[in-house]
Amino acid sequence: MDQVNVALLGFGTVGQGTYELLTKNQELIANRSGVAIKVKRIFVRNVDKYKEYELANETSFTTDFQEILNDESIQIVVEVMGGTDFAAQCVEQCLAAGKNVATANKDLLADQGPYLLDLASKNNVDLRYEASVLGGIPIIRTLYESLGGNKITELIGILNGTTNFILSNMTEKGAGYEEVLKEAQALGFAEADPTSDVEGYDAARKLAILSSIAFNRKLFFDDVNCEGITSIDATDIAFGKEFGYTIKLLGIAKETKKGISLNVHPAFIDSHHPLASVRGSYNALYVKGNGIDDAMFYGRGAGSLPTGSSVVSDIMEIAKNVVTNQTGQLISYYYADKNLYAPGKIESSYYIRLLVANNTGVLAKVASKLAEQRISVQSVIQRNESEKAATLAIVTSVCPQAYIMNVINAFKNLRVVREIGSVIRIMAE
Ligand code: NDP
Ligand code: HSE
Repeated sequence: MDQVNVALLGFGTVGQGTYELLTKNQELIANRSGVAIKVKRIFVRNVDKYKEYELANETSFTTDFQEILNDESIQIVVEVMGGTDFAAQCVEQCLAAGKNVATANKDLLADQGPYLLDLASKNNVDLRYEASVLGGIPIIRTLYESLGGNKITELIGILNGTTNFILSNMTEKGAGYEEVLKEAQALGFAEADPTSDVEGYDAARKLAILSSIAFNRKLFFDDVNCEGITSIDATDIAFGKEFGYTIKLLGIAKETKKGISLNVHPAFIDSHHPLASVRGSYNALYVKGNGIDDAMFYGRGAGSLPTGSSVVSDIMEIAKNVVTNQTGQLISYYYADKNLYAPGKIESSYYIRLLVANNTGVLAKVASKLAEQRISVQSVIQRNESEKAATLAIVTSVCPQAYIMNVINAFKNLRVVREIGSVIRIMAE
């Protein structure tokens, strides 16, 4: 049987999950791919940190990247360190040196993906990145291959395990934000800097990667309008439940005649919607295409073995290409010239929470400011906070985002409105 040698760059959550699967399923992987896949080197910063870890005889740690780059027997390099600067240098150098690369690094892909894919192609090697989006759910290859015959018009996803874990635990157990974030970090879901998760940047990167494939246009992190979950609090979650909604951080990409819109933001969805039942660190992607109609992909979006599973599938695919001399065959998917669509034009209904003076006629004043923008009140819950103050939770009719921004500005000048608590989109069915 042909043998292909692999080096891992990084041995944290994903690196260890990848190694564990490659070793415990070694025979099965060899039989299915027809290639004996051996991990020869593992590159880390601090070997002492891993001294308790038992490696196979053929595998050893190194702290010298050049050792891997210059080792001609290593055909596949797996980048699972994260970050953009050093990881980019390593990936670039590997591709230029004729080494195939598999990576789980969405930060890198959403920043330099098209450039790196071109570089791989020019050097006749593969660059695969199944693990960069939706952890263990095989979505990249599904979009490229299985759904290749569809014109895709919409992607709606829960793309980040950490924030879904936080929101689910806040909703179901009444847990506090900080406490659940710490739990997500301990479980290895969160990024090294969890700001990426909670501010929606991680989901935005994943949405850019998926949308590039779905819409055949180069799309980057900066093309996504992004809002995180840091301002969501227990009050909104509780009002949402009363209205029959569940809160989720959604990535929504659409292609219409007006162009492509890419948005990540918290949204209320109907509690009976399939995405509402996606809980904990699970992720899901809803795809609309002109052949399949609707399909939903669901599974673990983060974690050691689920993400390792996607990395291993890339390694197997590359290994088969190495032994059959077919690396570097991926054709460019980015041929389309399409507009991006401004967020001010996107329409939805909204949930608005206000702290107002507890006087007669206040609701009418609030409703009249909405009416000035041709927005009506669909439902309202009033909760008296004291003799002087009340909370209004309002669900509006569907309107463009720009109109809601105008109303919010008008509320700032309305004396009866003491505080604008939150403004959250409601996703249509
Ligand atoms: P970890 O922080 O758990 O592990 C990172 C590993 O990379 C460590 O072994 C670290 O070594 C090594 N490393 C980092 N920087 C360097 C460097 N400059 N030189 C040498 N080694 C370095 O990260 P994860 O495994 O969680 O994530 C890895 C990648 O996978 C990231 O891109 C992440 O976004 C992505 N990803 C993560 C998922 C998850 O569930 N965790 C899911 C999907 C993708 P040392 O310990 O010695 O510092
Ligand atoms: N931090 C990421 C998440 C890891 O929570 O989804 C998986 O990409």
